[in-house]
Amino acid sequence: MITEKLKPTNVNIMRCASRLKAGGLVAFPTETVYALGADATNGKAVKKVYEVKGRPLDKPLIVAVSKKQDIDKVAKNIPQAARVLIDKFMPGALTLLLDRADCIPDEVTAGTNTVAVRIPDNETALKLIELSGRPIVVPSANTSDKPSPTLASHVIDDLDGKIEFVLDGGASKIGIESTIVDTRTDPPTVLRGGGVSSDEIEAVIGKVEFKREPTYATSGYVPRAEVLFSAMYDGMADNINARYDKLTSQGRSVVILCLDDNAEHYGQRNLYTVGKTYSDYAHNIFALLRKADADNFDTVIAEGVESKGIGSSLINRLIKVSGGQII
Ligand code: TXA
Ligand code: MG
Repeated sequence: MITEKLKPTNVNIMRCASRLKAGGLVAFPTETVYALGADATNGKAVKKVYEVKGRPLDKPLIVAVSKKQDIDKVAKNIPQAARVLIDKFMPGALTLLLDRADCIPDEVTAGTNTVAVRIPDNETALKLIELSGRPIVVPSANTSDKPSPTLASHVIDDLDGKIEFVLDGGASKIGIESTIVDTRTDPPTVLRGGGVSSDEIEAVIGKVEFKREPTYATSGYVPRAEVLFSAMYDGMADNINARYDKLTSQGRSVVILCLDDNAEHYGQRNLYTVGKTYSDYAHNIFALLRKADADNFDTVIAEGVESKGIGSSLINRLIKVSGGQII
């Protein structure tokens, strides 16, 4: 199979929608990260998604629809808190865990009676889902050993020859995955931090709980390079420099991930700057981890951030990729 990268013109989106209807796999942009789509009502098509991603069969898939009314077609018993979140944050980087409707097969939910649902905030994604006339599964379009793709080229790196089309929508706006909330519990539970911060969620539905295991539901990806990350405090740059110098004296090649404004603290050391804000950091983190592997660095030392807004979702990703190696 040849994987074609397509511009998101109406004609191409139409072609991709036809492939989805026929049980094919198509990758496309969303505002969080690129998705690997298949018809969520077609168990056979969904099975192929697990195959090409190399994904364990017990890890269920998120389902996307293009409009709010369609959530009632894939889920049932929708609680009031979910209605409020749907009104406020959809389309957007929020996924809700709900009771599944009968049209959603076991392959999507890994046999559980829940379904995770979202509406992507991306014009191409919405058109594609709308034209396909079906709910579409939207796992990240990476293989299980890689971080979520934020460019069409990342999708090609991982899935070339395994899927039919990639719609190229440029860089993903947010860069990390959606926030997953289980509204069936009281209070609701945040299962995975992501593009919508828990502060924003609490502002509309009140206190939420957090699943105690902080790495729940983030990707299984561990980069080839060792990743360390520093807690955020006044002496952070000195701490990072000391570790950098120790590792390089042992012959390791090291790169530091830092905010633009902090670059001056690291002198001539190897740096990847992540941008000015935490949102920029989130936008660039996965692409830079892929770059560190491509550039053959042995170790990445990432700056920590404050646990506020998207910062807490970033910390969650850093804990996961570093295996909790905090310096
Ligand atoms: O932003 C996102 O959500 C992206 C874009 C492409 O939609 N997708 C994404 O999918 O991150 P994925 O498959 O990489 O991660 C989905 C996570 C998995 O860890 C899975 O365990 C959890 O969502 N999940 C999906 N359905 C679930 C369910 N029924 N019950 C519990 N967890 C579920
Ligand atoms: Mg993923």
